[in-house]
Amino acid sequence: MTFGCRVNQAESFGLAGELRASGGEAVEADRADLVVVNTCSVTAVADQGARQAIRHIARTNPSARIVVTGCYATRRPADLRGLPGVTRLVANAEKSRLVTAIAPELGLREDPRAGDGEDDRGLALRNAREGRTAFFLPVQTGCDEHCAYCIVPSTRGPARSRPLEEVTREAARASQAGFKEAILTGVHLGSYGRDLDPTRSLADLLRAVDEHGGEARYRLSSIEPMDCAPAVIDLVAGSGRFAPHLHLPLQHASDRMLRAMRRPYSVPFYRRLVDSIRRRLPDAAIGTDLIVGFPGETDDDFRQCVEFLDDSPLTSVHVFCYSDRPGTAAAGMTPKVHAGTVKRRAEALRARARDLSRRFQASQIGSVRRSLTLGDGTLALTDNYLKVRIPPGHERNEWVDVKVLEADDVLAGVVVGMPPPRSIPVMPAKAGIQPASASGFRRAPD
Ligand code: F3S
Repeated sequence: MTFGCRVNQAESFGLAGELRASGGEAVEADRADLVVVNTCSVTAVADQGARQAIRHIARTNPSARIVVTGCYATRRPADLRGLPGVTRLVANAEKSRLVTAIAPELGLREDPRAGDGEDDRGLALRNAREGRTAFFLPVQTGCDEHCAYCIVPSTRGPARSRPLEEVTREAARASQAGFKEAILTGVHLGSYGRDLDPTRSLADLLRAVDEHGGEARYRLSSIEPMDCAPAVIDLVAGSGRFAPHLHLPLQHASDRMLRAMRRPYSVPFYRRLVDSIRRRLPDAAIGTDLIVGFPGETDDDFRQCVEFLDDSPLTSVHVFCYSDRPGTAAAGMTPKVHAGTVKRRAEALRARARDLSRRFQASQIGSVRRSLTLGDGTLALTDNYLKVRIPPGHERNEWVDVKVLEADDVLAGVVVGMPPPRSIPVMPAKAGIQPASASGFRRAPD
């Protein structure tokens, strides 16, 4: 069960593959021998969600071993240790050894390599294919920034990048294993390579993936606005390998608030950035995150956020309500914004966010987008990150060219073509992300 960001999703994806490779079998959480809860601690609501989920699993499946990992388990293990069903807490730093540690208790193989001559990630890849459409490719973790509100540097540590060659090798292997889309993930993805020797950049990584990454299409997870260099935009716009989809967390549209949050850019900079992306990529999905209720936020600061959205090319907005994270600079800042005001402001921004999403959907009606089928094959994810319902007749993980016909609650479309097998990525291309699921693992029958 996964909470939080794509890094957590990527790590759960890796754990699931390793568990399968060790002899486990994925089942619903209420029948599982083991449920791994991969927590987030970005807000108080995230903490609460994890505690509720654990209690729910323990109620519906009292015999399950619940192993809790992720940022909440790293930040406040004492909060979780005594919850029902919890048999083990695993900090982020130990996550990569989680399966080896718990395998003996479950009668699973400790080493997923045993017996088949394939290395752990390779076997995990092959097994992960059974459960997902998109492949999560972690390229770095940790963060060296000092955003005033953020707990992540303390739960993930300093920025560490995987060597370029290691990333491209894994990318090529994922493609060989049948993944048609991979998502490049990192806690601070835009800082990729600054810690390597010789240093590298995100653009270097994209060039290498473009050249050596097999036949898959690649999608970038969130990148900080200051890291979205012209070379990155050029590669996304020009290579045909990357989905036209960028997520650029703004956090606030008042410069005063950005300074208080210690975000190293201004609202005009951000505006120029998204406008330039829109000019280069007229159909791109451009997402953002906003925080409401940061200490000291006034009506005027909030108004600037509303006005920014009303007049922006953004296509999706995630609104977070600020909550104090003990140990951060913002926790000591005043005045705090009243909870009722935070709620009202969040609702107002979310209404604007829905308008932006609807406007983007409407703008895509009549267009043909290269898409990847998800689930039972009747849902397709476009390159520009729209989910379109299509008539039955396709398997999961097929490339299809979809004409978008109408937008109601969900977009509907028809398949107007199937690209030849080796033509892949972008035409207008797309890829697939499935929602985090509530499932667990059982030991597979012998
Ligand atoms: Fe949450 Fe940790 Fe990601 S706090 S957002 S799971 S880095």
